[in-house]
Amino acid sequence: MRIDTTRRERFLGARRDRNLCVLEGLHAVKHAHRFGAVFGEVVTRDPEAQIELAHNLAPDIADWLAAAAVCVGPDGFDQLAPLAHPTGVMAVAERRAHEAEQILRATGGPVVFLEEPVHLGNVGAAIRVVAAAGGGALLTSGRHDPWSPESLRAAAGLHFAVPVARVEALGAYGDRFVALDADAPDLREVALPERPILAFGSERQGLSSEIMDRAAVRASLPMREGVSSLNLATAVAAVLYTLRATSER
Ligand SMILES: C[S@@+](CC[C@H](N)C(=O)[O-])C[C@H]1O[C@@H](n2cnc3c(N)ncnc32)[C@H](O)[C@@H]1O
Repeated sequence: MRIDTTRRERFLGARRDRNLCVLEGLHAVKHAHRFGAVFGEVVTRDPEAQIELAHNLAPDIADWLAAAAVCVGPDGFDQLAPLAHPTGVMAVAERRAHEAEQILRATGGPVVFLEEPVHLGNVGAAIRVVAAAGGGALLTSGRHDPWSPESLRAAAGLHFAVPVARVEALGAYGDRFVALDADAPDLREVALPERPILAFGSERQGLSSEIMDRAAVRASLPMREGVSSLNLATAVAAVLYTLRATSER
């Protein structure tokens, strides 16, 4: 099959486009479709294999995928991303734009704020657990784009299930901050503010002194003696499920 260079440019260009996002793999495409993403283009390496996989893993999207996906062949598919996904499906979709102010006014599950995260895999894994555990939104600060293809891949496309946005500063909301820090009192014994914003620090530095000082409360997940900290995304998961278990009691 002849390689379509304009398609390749569209897919590679979408990785840098602030209005678009690239979904890599069946699970990412499945979640995006389930949560109402607007797709520009869906491609497959092999339509028959794709339909069989969808029938096995995501039967609810199998018919839609069969109709929407264009076959680009193995060579064409491998050219559309730096690391072609083994499930053989990829798509370009429109990003959802969210205003931080609107997110913070909304009522719903706790908002998770990641301060200057470094690893996009952690950002994606955190988005995935916010969506799964009923969190209200995921906000990040710092230079990394939470809608990057690496983050979408790790989140399995769940950016469409909860609001995800990068913010400049959240200083005005200090009275809602819960600063998660390994040296703080036990989360289960701390009284949380109304509509908490759960603030997590970066992988290497932890939370800045600015957030630690402004936070309404500080809280930790107790750990065995000798362990310094949990991985960032693991900490987000443990905090959300601890709060969920506590509120269900
Ligand atoms: C990998 S840790 C950062 C470790 C960093 N060296 C430090 O000194 O804080 C990333 C973030 O996960 C959260 N975290 C990790 N372990 C935690 C725990 N046991 N209790 C509460 N939060 C934790 C914190 O928000 C922390 O800033």
